[in-house]
Amino acid sequence: MRSKLMVGNWKMNGSLAANASLVAELLSGMSAITCRVAVCVPSAYLAQMQVLLSGSPIGYGAQDVSDHASGAYTGEVSASMLQDFAVRYCIVGHSERRLYHAESDVLVAVKAQRALAAGITPIVCVGETQAEREAGQTEAVVKRQLAAVIHANGHCISEIVVAYEPVWAVGTGLTATPEQAQQVHAVLRAQLQAASSHADRVSILYGGSMNAGNAAQLLAQPDVDGGLIGGAALKAPDFLSMLKTASR
Ligand code: 13P
Repeated sequence: MRSKLMVGNWKMNGSLAANASLVAELLSGMSAITCRVAVCVPSAYLAQMQVLLSGSPIGYGAQDVSDHASGAYTGEVSASMLQDFAVRYCIVGHSERRLYHAESDVLVAVKAQRALAAGITPIVCVGETQAEREAGQTEAVVKRQLAAVIHANGHCISEIVVAYEPVWAVGTGLTATPEQAQQVHAVLRAQLQAASSHADRVSILYGGSMNAGNAAQLLAQPDVDGGLIGGAALKAPDFLSMLKTASR
């Protein structure tokens, strides 16, 4: 049985002061929390997280990693640099990166490979756009995105986390219904099972306007192993309420 994993994606939000108070509020509410918890923060704040969260029940991670090992790649952050800050997770292939930075399936797969080689768990995001859903392409799109990562990572695939984030639900207030989420999660689970005999240990998270009001129904689905949460993870009471739900 996989314990639930709840990950806050802070995106490009925060400041030293705001992060410190958010983390303090979260830590003070962790006593009854039994699910796994992490926050993925801007790289500029990883050093701060290392100080605030080392040895705590809240893990931390990055939001992206370079597909290169080192060298003349201005602005990039390598997996070994993330390793210096003892990060546990790294989001790869978030729809905002696929969209605004033209990240391809193959690039995302290489990023996952870089993270795994550094002992960092990649949280691989997949998801269809509104137009793709309306065209009946949802399954084909998420399977294509995951297939690239499976192809590049072979037997290590059981070490990843997958996040199903329908693009039309990210930051829009629209959420997949629990049935829609379960349907896609089951497809992803079957694809992982075909690739690895250890696929059952892979957590498949749902992301896209998950909040304190809809988390319970989504998390009740058999193949929804947790959440990747944007806006609602920036408010301590909301995030803590979702962590409680995931700890039941
Ligand atoms: P929201 O929860 O703000 O919709 O963002 C979801 C997301 O993109 C998490 O990675």
